Amino acid sequence: MNVSLVGLGHIGKAVVGILNENRGYFKNKFGSDINVISVSDSKTTIYNKKGLNLDKVLMYKERKELDEAAEVIKIDDIYSLPSDIIVDMSPATKDGIAGMRMYKNAFESGKHIVTSNKAPLALHWKEIMESSVAHKKHILYESAVGGGVPLFNLNRYSLKSSNILEFKGQVSSTINFVLNQLMANVDFNEAIKTAQNMGIAETDYHDDTNGLDGARKTVIIANALLGLDYTLNDVKYEGIENLGNIDYMRNSGEIYRVLSHIIPGPKPVVESKIFSIKSGDSLAAMDSLSMGYLEKTDNNDDLTVFEKHDGPLETAAQVVNDILLLS
Ligand SMILES: NC(=O)c1ccc[n+]([C@@H]2O[C@H](COP(=O)([O-])OP(=O)(O)OC[C@H]3O[C@@H](n4cnc5c(N)ncnc54)[C@H](OP(=O)(O)O)[C@@H]3O)[C@@H](O)[C@H]2O)c1
Repeated sequence: MNVSLVGLGHIGKAVVGILNENRGYFKNKFGSDINVISVSDSKTTIYNKKGLNLDKVLMYKERKELDEAAEVIKIDDIYSLPSDIIVDMSPATKDGIAGMRMYKNAFESGKHIVTSNKAPLALHWKEIMESSVAHKKHILYESAVGGGVPLFNLNRYSLKSSNILEFKGQVSSTINFVLNQLMANVDFNEAIKTAQNMGIAETDYHDDTNGLDGARKTVIIANALLGLDYTLNDVKYEGIENLGNIDYMRNSGEIYRVLSHIIPGPKPVVESKIFSIKSGDSLAAMDSLSMGYLEKTDNNDDLTVFEKHDGPLETAAQVVNDILLLS
């Protein structure tokens, strides 16, 4: 299985690390020999037909000399390489167009897609899925929502005989960490600074705190679980930048979280907003940096799935899981 990786940041480097350390294990356990033949960052794409030396990739990336690690090609050349999968771990763009083009080019070139990038899926779901079906190629996106928590694959493989009655999920850590700080009387700018120092908030944090990031994730969950083809315009969402009722929230003694909330029906509820969680609710077991969800179903009862802590390693593990599923 030949793989091209696009993006060599927090997630990309962790994916390279997992593939490098576990190549023999994956081969023995699953019969999957995962061979990375190209990697790209924002400036450079390197390629080796027989497979890149991943120790060298990480070392040269660290030294900011990726172009020294192997033959340099243009990023657009990846579609003509003998790869089976292109893995998109590049940043979310405002319009998601670059990602959509990448996926359509990949399908047309006979390649599957694995992606952790939510922007193309949130904005161009229908076009991407139609292209995937037309070219009989797969797209797996487990890591794009909820980091390391299994959500789409769990629904795809383990809950086939149930109908979803309601979904409520904590799938954005930045906004929930900052909201938690606000509840503890920390000033907004101070909370952002702490989140940035912890590496969970970007320099431009507004997409997170104005709720857009949560809305992007919510639309992907709704489309994937309910078979819709919604875009961002169909999602109601709120952020935490101007909380008029923060004093009331602080005095209530309850936990508040920004959650993706979905209820199927003739007029589905698809929203990302602040909910109060009472102690004793299954979601109350999560802290503000956890990822997880409550899914109510007809035949599989109410499921709560969560991880205590989420970070690049957990997300990268889901990227690699998707690669292994395709292989
Ligand atoms: N971090 C998380 O915990 C997390 C969780 C779930 C999903 N995601 C998603 O996963 C993706 C990657 O996240 P990250 O944290 O790894 O981001 P990151 O650290 O900012 O890394 C992004 C990587 O993409 C490269 N890149 C930028 N523009 C590119 C382009 N046009 N073509 C090819 N490569 C390009 C960057 O190149 P340079 O190295 O040259 O800058 C960098 O290597 C994002 O879409 C993010 O939303 C992240």
